[in-house]
Amino acid sequence: MSSLPPRHHCPYALDGSAADIHGEAAALRTMGPATQVELPGGVAAWSVTDPDLVRRLLVHPHVSMDAHQHWPAYLNGDLPADWPLQIWVDIRTVQTAYGPDHRRLRRPLVPAFTARRVRALASRIAETAAAVLDDVAEVAATAPDGVVDLRTHFASRLPWLMVTALLGLPEAMHDDFQRINDTVFATDLTAEQAAANTAEATRLLGSLIAVKTERPGDDVTSALVDAHRTGLLGEQELADSLWMMMGAGYGTTAGLLDHAVVNLLTHPAQLDLAMSGRVGWDQVVEETLRHQAPVANFFLRFLTEDLYDEATGLTFARGDALVINYAAVGRDPGVHGPDAHVFDITRPTAREHLAFGYGSHYCLGAELARLEGRIALPALFSRYPGLAFAVAPDRLTPLPSLIFNGHRELPVRLDRTSNRWT
Ligand code: HEM
Repeated sequence: MSSLPPRHHCPYALDGSAADIHGEAAALRTMGPATQVELPGGVAAWSVTDPDLVRRLLVHPHVSMDAHQHWPAYLNGDLPADWPLQIWVDIRTVQTAYGPDHRRLRRPLVPAFTARRVRALASRIAETAAAVLDDVAEVAATAPDGVVDLRTHFASRLPWLMVTALLGLPEAMHDDFQRINDTVFATDLTAEQAAANTAEATRLLGSLIAVKTERPGDDVTSALVDAHRTGLLGEQELADSLWMMMGAGYGTTAGLLDHAVVNLLTHPAQLDLAMSGRVGWDQVVEETLRHQAPVANFFLRFLTEDLYDEATGLTFARGDALVINYAAVGRDPGVHGPDAHVFDITRPTAREHLAFGYGSHYCLGAELARLEGRIALPALFSRYPGLAFAVAPDRLTPLPSLIFNGHRELPVRLDRTSNRWT
């Protein structure tokens, strides 16, 4: 039995262009701890916004991420042929696996993310950030108006270079993979665009796997190729895991750096607190993760059995699909108070977010992403103390993705004296 509203009740339609992620999250929160929504393409799901309910569902044994086993709409061919979110459920990775399959797919990835391995990356992050900031200066110096897009040249660039280092991507392949990564996970693609991207991605991954099979290194790609050689991973699982790793480590961390820059530039007193050391950069990172969850919504989970949640009185039916609304969770007024929508690096509850998930699927790259933020943000603001927007901040356009929360561009000038917005 399901507690889904009767059919005459129109489900809330999520906006695939993601023009106002937080407006949507706030509206959904007022409708209850979980609300029936229509995903782009007209597919039904629940959007879960309540932090406690999210925690209970994420550790519940009857909640799976595997559409291939547990989503009747997928198995019965009920999804639209050109469904824009298809890739999120087709892909066979740690993020779409359940139970023993999940543990098997996670195993070859874990060694690259131990606390020791991540700590050892600190100097590499610092060197890479310094080189990225040199390039930022060069771009600004050669631009006729002195404007540089910090989304492209900083917020995306550093995480991308760290992902390529982790995966051991040959330099000649960097740009091709980055180009395809920038579009393939968008949630507003046409069927033709999505198909062309998938074909290009498959070709590129084939070349990468061939290179690493011939010349393995101390990197995640080689570990995955080896796991395939020993029979731990199937062929599709190998290709999809590589693909997933690029997306998981890149657009997410880019969103963190992007929103931290925007929030600090629009809250100069808080930037002063961080620059003077009165508030730590770890607190800046946590408050940004809370206030602007870089993964705004995560698609999808499925009920393997009917589930009655006593605390909310909700019943989810076997086969129902769930979207975890991390954007809503981070701004829950019950946890953070009535000013939950305000960016405040002194907030005592800044760490009480679920931006990296919860339970067995907890983000493997959480400490790496935090470290990138703690190193790159002070490096940026120390190098360019006059950094200022080149457009009014309210003119920044969000990425057209329900999943990755960030901006298309962050046009800035490096010297505030030449800027009319400050
Ligand atoms: C600020 C940056 C990041 C954020 C906000 C973030 C967020 C998340 C979230 C929310 C999940 C769990 C999704 C769910 O199950 O509902 C997740 C899983 C994951 N993340 Fe991250 N992530 C970030 C950076 C990274 C990085 C840098 C890497 C690796 C290079 C990474 C690799 C992964 C992997 C492999 C998983 C899947 C774990 C599993 O399913 O067992 N992430 N991440």
